[in-house]
Amino acid sequence: MSDLGFNKIAGATLATALAAVGLTQLSKIIYQPEPAAKPGYAIQVAAETGAAEAPVADTPPDWGTVLTAANVASGEEQSKKCLSCHTFTKGGANGTGPNQWGVVGRKPGSHPGFAYSTGMTDFGAKTPVWDYDHLYDFIKSPGSYISGTKMTFVGIKAPEDRINLIAWLRQQSDSPMAIPAPKPKAAAAPAASSAPAASSAPAASSAPAASSAPAAAPAA
Ligand code: HEC
Repeated sequence: MSDLGFNKIAGATLATALAAVGLTQLSKIIYQPEPAAKPGYAIQVAAETGAAEAPVADTPPDWGTVLTAANVASGEEQSKKCLSCHTFTKGGANGTGPNQWGVVGRKPGSHPGFAYSTGMTDFGAKTPVWDYDHLYDFIKSPGSYISGTKMTFVGIKAPEDRINLIAWLRQQSDSPMAIPAPKPKAAAAPAASSAPAASSAPAASSAPAASSAPAAAPAA
């Protein structure tokens, strides 16, 4: 009698287990053919391409506008990231990297006594000078801008930091490269719509206006 009771219970348990397995299988059959995963991937890809738009928007700024407004002292702070490999003083020694006195306006790969990579000398062959645009792109990510460069530096991503650094670099020279005239407003407008790169430009141009307004108030 008790054996029979056990069998009943075992039978019921087995039936339940089978039913559970069956339901699991059934639900797999129901849900598996619905490849919700694919729309999911599609969304992810879309998100990634969206993020990739940021570097595209990181076009060099209007130097005539940003250089005059740049924070040179902050740029000098940025240059400390370079000191492990570069000297910036006039006649300074080459280290892991070449001396940087007068580098703005200098032909890439041309500093005497430094053994450049072929990546850099090739770049110099097609690039007359290190101008603001080229430095802006190079310092952002040296290795991806000049393939084969020996400059194993991760780069400075923030546009503002690079602008300030370039403003300071420019001054480390016997004859600092000229600052171009600001572009006319009509030409600057499309740049302002591309948010990340242009963010520093509007900030820079609005700063003087903002500072003059409070100054007027206390005077009254
Ligand atoms: C880890 C060492 C290292 C650091 C840090 C470094 N550099 Fe360099 N840099 C190099 C080397 C090496 C070269 C030569 C590259 C080549 O020949 O490919 C170079 C080349 C350059 C050049 C080209 C010079 C020329 O004569 O054509 C510039 C401009 C430059 N670096 C700027 C910077 C700035 C600005 C920083 C800091 C934000 C910096 N580097 C940080 C190692 C470094």
